[in-house]
Formats: sequence, C-alpha cells, structure tokens
Amino acid sequence: MAYTEPVLTKRIDLDPAKRKTAWYDDYVATGGYAALRKALEMAPNDIIKTVTDSGLRGRGGAGFSAGQKWSFIPKEKKGPHYLAVNADESEPGTFKDRYLMDYDPHSLLEGIAITAIATQVDVAYIFIRGEFHRQTKVMERALEEAYAHGVFGQGGIFGSKYKLECFVHRGAGAYICGEETGLLEALEGKRGWSHPVALFFWRSAEIIC
Ligand SMILES: Cc1cc2nc3c(=O)[nH]c(=O)nc-3n(C[C@H](O)[C@H](O)[C@H](O)COP(=O)(O)O)c2cc1C
Repeated sequence: MAYTEPVLTKRIDLDPAKRKTAWYDDYVATGGYAALRKALEMAPNDIIKTVTDSGLRGRGGAGFSAGQKWSFIPKEKKGPHYLAVNADESEPGTFKDRYLMDYDPHSLLEGIAITAIATQVDVAYIFIRGEFHRQTKVMERALEEAYAHGVFGQGGIFGSKYKLECFVHRGAGAYICGEETGLLEALEGKRGWSHPVALFFWRSAEIIC
C-alpha cells in the first residue's frame, strides 16, 4: 500500500484534539535544530546547492525553487542583508503557514537561521498577518526560547560567527501586504502599496521574501 510520510507537518497530529505546540525541548527531542547544526558545518554555497538539489520550493504561489532564490543574493557583502519572512497568509481560504506557526514554530525559526547562514543575513523579520493574534503569541514565545538557547543574538548562532537578529512584525491586516513589495513597504512603516519593480528595503539591495 502506498504510504506518504509527512515532512513539513510531522509534528502536527492528524487528530485536531491531540495537537499541541512543539516548544523548544519537544522540538529538539524530535530532531529539531539538527539541520541547523549541520548547516553550521557547511559552506554557504554547499547549503544553497543542497537546498536547490532537494527540490524545495516556495509556498507563496509560484512554487519557485528556494535554493535558486537564495543563490541570487550577492556573495560580496556591501551592507546588511535582510530576510523578510512572509507570514501574511491573507489569501482567503489559505492555511499553509498558520498550522506551522501554531504547532511547530521552531521549524520556521530553524529555517530562518539556515537561510541566514546560506545568504549572510543579519536581520530577519517575520511579517505576520495582523489578525493572527494566537500565532503572534506563539511565535514570540518560541523566539524568546530560541534567543535563550543561542539560536539568535549577538553571541552568534550556537556560538558561531553568524550573528542573527530576528523580530516578529505584525501587519495591520491588508491583503496587499502579502505581496512582497507591499510587504516591504509595510515593514518600513509605510502604507502597503505594491510596486511593479523590485523594491530596496531600507535602501539595501539584498533581501529575500
Ligand atoms: C496580491 C498578492 C498577495 C500575496 N499574498 C501572499 C501571502 O499572503 N503569503 C505569501 O506567502 N505570498 C503571497 N504572495 C506572493 C508573494 O508576493 C511572494 O511571491 C512570496 O512571498 C514568495 O514566497 P515563496 O518563495 O515562499 O513562494 C502574494 C502575491 C500577490 C500578488
């Protein structure tokens, strides 16, 4: 009989009554942050190649290769690199992000840290939909735990040379802010207009949505 093994949702019980959030200790006990420790031993280019070869694709709609997107970030650093994490999920009827934030928030944080190593990101912003009150609380608590365990902060990721700060930023609740240029405008504190051309976040050329 065909068997499909859940990967992304492996910590989310099929039975809604049994679902609970995997906090830091549960996450680590079930293999969490092992990939991050592995990434710390790899060269950034090798991480990008591994992710590209894995076939991992974005979940924002276009299904674009995640590794390829990471490879567009210039290797020569001229200023800080920013990572904007799109947790707006304002498309009606979409449930692709909130379950992960509800029940497996550290998987998102681990992904952020791995992306940061691969693309030399200094600061990450999780742009979260304004109406996601519960998910905001969950992410803030998980972030606090991750800082306490040395994932983020100026001490470097698990004591390494990669220093990464991460913030949760709540949107005001507008569909257009899920579009990447609108999202960047909103993140800068402006009205979330979308633009037909690439936008430079805080005048920085290096950003991934
Ligand atoms: C009007 C509009 C709304 C969008 N809303 C979202 C959204 O809520 N969440 C999302 O992940 N992508 C949304 N997108 C797609 C983003 O612009 C962008 O392509 C995506 O964040 C890239 O992420 P990915 O690499 O995971 O696919 C929207 C695009 C448009 C045009």
